[in-house]
Amino acid sequence: MTVTLTVLRQASPDDAPYRQTILFETDDMQMTVASMLQKINADPACTDTEGRAVTPIRWECSCLQKKCGACAMRINGRPRLACDALLSEFRRGRILLEPLRKFPVVADLTVDRSILMQNLMRMQIWFAEDAEPDEAVRGLTYDASRCLQCGCCLEVCPNFCADGKFYGMAGLLPAARLLTALPESQKEAMQQAYRKHLYEGCGKSLACHDICPAGIPVDRLLVNANAAAVWKRRPRRRREKPDE
Ligand code: SF4
Ligand code: SF4
Ligand code: FES
Repeated sequence: MTVTLTVLRQASPDDAPYRQTILFETDDMQMTVASMLQKINADPACTDTEGRAVTPIRWECSCLQKKCGACAMRINGRPRLACDALLSEFRRGRILLEPLRKFPVVADLTVDRSILMQNLMRMQIWFAEDAEPDEAVRGLTYDASRCLQCGCCLEVCPNFCADGKFYGMAGLLPAARLLTALPESQKEAMQQAYRKHLYEGCGKSLACHDICPAGIPVDRLLVNANAAAVWKRRPRRRREKPDE
């Protein structure tokens, strides 16, 4: 099979972006987009459809197992993890890779997502003292902790921009996790930060719901975090299935 791969390339933030198309030959259509990028970068003789040498394509990865979120990029227009996208998924073998658009491009498919950590630090999302998760809502706590900070949800969120005061679902989930564990006496600062940076900006469209590569039930976490931070109610207990 021949995969027609087009990559939006940009040598540095100051350079103009351009598209480069490569014909990638493989017998293994169960290969991931991440593996394809690795193979292309490992081939010093790789050329594009115009005969130009293909310099190493800059992209990020770490786990290659859908665990770290580093390889998030736009694949045929949809934010996804490159290590979770099989070549066989793409009709006629045509794949377009672009960097996430909500963050500054560093080079090629690598973007600067440091704003995510800065936002968490601004909200002071950490435990100042020992805290015990509320056992009654351990399912919610666990789901919130599965966030990869990949940024895919922010890409489709109509209300998030990197320099805005609304921090999006990537900020909401760590806050939701803290709200299930902080003792009542220590919740006030987190509730205030939540209202300012999360509740007030979220349109509740749930565009972020189906895009999350970790499959986190963001709708349930949103409802419970709003209840805890805005309406000052205890989070609702997750209904456990009989075999859970
Ligand atoms: S519900 Fe809508 S506005 Fe809120 S974080 Fe998700 S996509 Fe953004
Ligand atoms: S909520 Fe999902 S899509 Fe958003 S940053 Fe976390 S893992 Fe990524
Ligand atoms: S490399 Fe870690 S999620 Fe893809």
